[in-house]
Amino acid sequence: MKQSCIIYGGAGFIGSHIAEDLLLKNMKVTVFDKLNASKRNVAHILEKIDFIEGDFNNEIDINKSLRNKDYVVHLVSSTLPASSNLNPYYDVESNLISSLHLFERCVHNSVKKVIFISSGGTVYGNPTKLPIKEDHPTEPLNSYGIIKLTIEKYLSLYKNLKGQDYKILRFANPFGERQNPLLSQGLIAHLLYKIKHKQTIEIWGDGKIVRDYFYIKDGAKAIYRAFQDNSDNSIYNISSGTGYSINQILDKFRRVLKLKFRVKYLPSRKFDVKANVLDNRLAAKQLKWTPETEFNEGLKNTWRYILDNQ
Ligand SMILES: NC(=O)c1ccc[n+]([C@@H]2O[C@H](COP(=O)([O-])OP(=O)(O)OC[C@H]3O[C@@H](n4cnc5c(N)ncnc54)[C@H](O)[C@@H]3O)[C@@H](O)[C@H]2O)c1
Repeated sequence: MKQSCIIYGGAGFIGSHIAEDLLLKNMKVTVFDKLNASKRNVAHILEKIDFIEGDFNNEIDINKSLRNKDYVVHLVSSTLPASSNLNPYYDVESNLISSLHLFERCVHNSVKKVIFISSGGTVYGNPTKLPIKEDHPTEPLNSYGIIKLTIEKYLSLYKNLKGQDYKILRFANPFGERQNPLLSQGLIAHLLYKIKHKQTIEIWGDGKIVRDYFYIKDGAKAIYRAFQDNSDNSIYNISSGTGYSINQILDKFRRVLKLKFRVKYLPSRKFDVKANVLDNRLAAKQLKWTPETEFNEGLKNTWRYILDNQ
């Protein structure tokens, strides 16, 4: 019989790529997303998946959706790094409490393993050493990162208390097709969208901030590997392991995509760490996962998608 999995937040950017990959792995895939959520990201696979409309904050919806599921992927987030400090109470209520309900219900429904997509860009805070390993101190600078880290800790507690198995994948900065260009998360999609619509690009700070961008179709493949991983490790960085400054990304736009655009530099923001590059060698060793797609290749695919769809 096919192994089954449910992806909470599966109609979003990352979830749609995970759903695609898990279908290729011959799994029975259920996507759970908001009532009336756009199905655009999963339109091409809609006939092959089960789609449940529900509210992640509603325990009854969660409990019903978990019946006969072997694996759970948790991707729902109601906040973004840039806005999460504005209302930490909301962050706790909508993300932390609801995640705890999910884990309770997973225990109740004998789920084999929970995969939580955490944020390698925020949980570590300002790095003392680059590239950042999984055992680097965690000092998040925003509520978003604090909540991600707290959810991680509760997963560990649920394993100790109730035997619920789990793996945490700390994603760096994924980019690629279907990323929402109108959100503050997802620099590459956001900038390319502005260029397509002939708008001036606005950069917070001097453009020297360094981030670790990896192609989402590579990242999605880490989930199946995490399902299969029986090692004692519970936390993995998922990243390219290479850092680019924003100015270097702009240069890639000019040289690789042959684009012309205007740039305006704005004052820097307090919560932006200067550099974030994640060491992905543990994932390579234990999950046998490595990023396969060249940055330039991923960039071209993203630009093509934005030209055709946005
Ligand atoms: N995109 C990134 O750069 C990045 C990096 C690291 C971690 N993450 C984390 O990965 C996860 C997915 O990110 P994404 O970029 O795919 O986001 P996304 O916004 O594209 O997808 C999230 C999905 O969750 C759904 N959702 C939100 N609230 C819901 C609710 N109450 N009930 C049901 N569904 C709900 C949304 O409709 C959406 O389809 C998030 O938890 C995010 O914090 C993202």
